Amino acid sequence: MKDVIDDLEKVFILHNKKDYVLPYKVSLRWGDKHTEETRGRINAMPGYVGGDTNIAGIKWIGSGPQNPMKYDLPRASALIILNDAEKMLPLAIMDGTIISAMRTGGVTGTATKYLARPDSKIAGIIGAGTQNRTQIMAIKTVMPKLSKVKVYDLYLERSKRFAVEVSEELGIEVVPVLSAEEAIRDTDIIVTATTAKEPIVKAEWIGEGCFYSHVGGHEAEFDVISKANKIVVDDWEQIKHRGTQTLAIMHEKNEMKDENIYAEIGDIITQKKKGRENETEFIYFNGVGMALEDIIVANRIYSKALENGVGTVLELWDKPIWI
Ligand SMILES: NC(=O)c1ccc[n+]([C@@H]2O[C@H](COP(=O)([O-])OP(=O)(O)OC[C@H]3O[C@@H](n4cnc5c(N)ncnc54)[C@H](O)[C@@H]3O)[C@@H](O)[C@H]2O)c1
Repeated sequence: MKDVIDDLEKVFILHNKKDYVLPYKVSLRWGDKHTEETRGRINAMPGYVGGDTNIAGIKWIGSGPQNPMKYDLPRASALIILNDAEKMLPLAIMDGTIISAMRTGGVTGTATKYLARPDSKIAGIIGAGTQNRTQIMAIKTVMPKLSKVKVYDLYLERSKRFAVEVSEELGIEVVPVLSAEEAIRDTDIIVTATTAKEPIVKAEWIGEGCFYSHVGGHEAEFDVISKANKIVVDDWEQIKHRGTQTLAIMHEKNEMKDENIYAEIGDIITQKKKGRENETEFIYFNGVGMALEDIIVANRIYSKALENGVGTVLELWDKPIWI
């Protein structure tokens, strides 16, 4: 996770310098955007990362929200293809499921480092799925004093299993709680990563000095965001285009203006804007997720695989024809 967070800081700096190419995500779905949380969808996420990374690629990621309960399979499953940015030829085809979950955690880890109180000890999370596992892993990486996590899920069995596995893995206390309110009240850091169809988080549950990383779709009431002293995002244009998260819905309803966004995370890492300035401000962060994040992590793993002779060499052609 430490390596992932280092990759992400680097990619947010490149993003800030505009040394990237990032077309909007294409969503293959079987109805309007609300069907994503019921029927599912597959997203195509291409991108090019500049700097000394200089690599292009695409993540093709399916989401079947019914998978964990109905089939005992993960909600998200992804493949990543990396391409040489000079010849444009494919370099590698790899699993993207774990990379995607790790980078989503890493994005919150990076934001937490700059936006949460450095003495944060208690996290409250909603959703006992894949994403929140890597969210906690990342928060623990940047906030070594983190000692307790409260987790709420619609299904108590899932939060109980999550608590046992994550506390064992990270050596911190993880407690399943019986309501979203109990998870959120009296915490330093909040994360929501659910497949909820309606907002869950209420403004009155959030205390002074809190940091909230919003990972899922429409999980917070509008008042939560209006209460924030600072609203920070990964990429505002991408959030608006994707249209599924609370900030984008507020914008669509004319309740969020471009000027209400305080900064993109790259502005804070590059010190163009200040991160946390005092102990009391409530900072809200929303990452929509960018292909650049997947590509930079995938590229590091690809390089390691080459170094270690790991992987299977595919022969697409014996020799090229019809040149
Ligand atoms: N922003 C990003 O970059 C990014 C990246 C990956 C995933 N996501 C989003 O994160 C969310 C979670 O993904 P995941 O892979 O962990 O899914 P998952 O299916 O593994 O876990 C989701 C959990 O949410 C719980 N849940 C659903 N509705 C709830 C509610 N109302 N209250 C409490 N719990 C509820 C489910 O029971 C389940 O345990 C998805 O919406 C996904 O699209 C965002």
